[in-house]
Amino acid sequence: MVINLNQPMLFQKEELLEAKKDACSNYFENQYEHKFAFDPFINRQLVSFQANKGKPGYRWYKFKEAFSTSLVEYLLNKYQVNKGSILDPFAGSGTSLFTASNLGLNADGIELLPIGQEIIKSRLNIENHFTNSDRDRVVEWIQNRPWESAKVDFHLTELKITISAYPEQTKREIESYLLLLQREVPTVSMVLKFALLCILEEISYTRKDGQYLRWDVRAQKNLRSSSTFNKGKINEFSESIVHKLTEIIEDYELIKPHEGAGLIRLFSGSNLEVLPTIVESSYDAIFTSPPYCNRYDYTRTYALELALLGINDEQLKTLRQQMLSSTVENRSKELLDIKSEWVLPLQITRENMFLQEILEDLNKLKMSRQLNNVGIPRMVKGYFDEMSCIIFECYRLLKNNARLFMVNDNVRYSGISIPVDVILSNIAEKIGFYVEKIVVLKNGKGNSSQQMGKHGRDELRKCIYIWRK
Ligand SMILES: C[S@@+](CC[C@H](N)C(=O)[O-])C[C@H]1O[C@@H](n2cnc3c(N)ncnc32)[C@H](O)[C@@H]1O
Repeated sequence: MVINLNQPMLFQKEELLEAKKDACSNYFENQYEHKFAFDPFINRQLVSFQANKGKPGYRWYKFKEAFSTSLVEYLLNKYQVNKGSILDPFAGSGTSLFTASNLGLNADGIELLPIGQEIIKSRLNIENHFTNSDRDRVVEWIQNRPWESAKVDFHLTELKITISAYPEQTKREIESYLLLLQREVPTVSMVLKFALLCILEEISYTRKDGQYLRWDVRAQKNLRSSSTFNKGKINEFSESIVHKLTEIIEDYELIKPHEGAGLIRLFSGSNLEVLPTIVESSYDAIFTSPPYCNRYDYTRTYALELALLGINDEQLKTLRQQMLSSTVENRSKELLDIKSEWVLPLQITRENMFLQEILEDLNKLKMSRQLNNVGIPRMVKGYFDEMSCIIFECYRLLKNNARLFMVNDNVRYSGISIPVDVILSNIAEKIGFYVEKIVVLKNGKGNSSQQMGKHGRDELRKCIYIWRK
């Protein structure tokens, strides 16, 4: 809609303010219109885990928030990133790291969530240390199924939110399996444990669904007595674990790194802490996808896996706070205590009038009780403040002319659209990046079916930002 601000007589005062705001948002977005582009090769499947499903090594753990190896390969090839090192500060399951390494690049990844770290370490173990005799040992496990006959006295560690996640028989089998695997050499026990992590969802009463971990009524969790969710078939432990171990053994030879493969390093921890410790101008590209500003809580979705990895309730709370602010529970972080130079990126977000208007509008909705959660304004503010500091560090760490590729989604709360793509691109520009392109994926969708009904079907963009230093 084009608004002619020279005709104020048409508006009441409130309407005029709204119209000015619309004009401001249009103006802000229009600034980037010529940067928006489509790429016929890139579709939603490629930007999601979907395209990894049949790929050796990538198909083992279904990390739903992953992008595909084909996407990373395509863009690194297209922009001729063919030597040196890349960084992924939100490494997740390590898709960008393993893909870059296969292309001959060294790759550093930072990941906070222990399940992401474990997926990366497990694959590194299989690629670099797992031997043919280790493989033969795993084949013996597949053939003999020792967990079926063992009588054990071992208790699965649980979190408050993971109690009663498995049928009784399955829980007993997991416990025997865990006890028995401890008797194996580390290279074998790591693979056995990893296989178990890969199947937890399918053998449990839970499903990673949308923003939450959904619970099947059969778990008798009594979360909401009205919930009637039934996930359908719950796989049996033996069947699932044998299938997963077989898949790993099948892929093992196929994913052995070739001679020219690059070196992978994993930094376990928060990127806000790790990035400032890395030497400037270290990287030839950054390829990443942060959590979206969409209230998605990784620590809840991955609770079963975290419990199995020995995380306790206190550690879970700490992890939740350390994650990039993208849930309503995140308190604001003392960013200047981490690095005093971040005064600059924080000032840049404060001076972004468009973002400030969005925050003001969200706060107004909060005051008039029209937001479905009062933590949303704080979350959105935290998201952009933290992302600004991370972008500032990424700029420092890239070599001149090197590119940053970022996959991210726009979001909407109570009718207020937040064009994360143009806000972050604007912040990146102020930091010093040149915004080369914002590749838009076709067929956007709303935040949730509820919001779609209420606020229409205007699309929420999913994009890949391409910025150059
Ligand atoms: C969208 S996922 C990345 C997925 C990845 N591209 C892949 O293909 O697997 C975002 C990741 O950022 C991680 N993360 C969130 N906050 C973090 C932080 N402060 N430091 C490091 N990693 C963080 C999450 O744990 C999650 O694994």
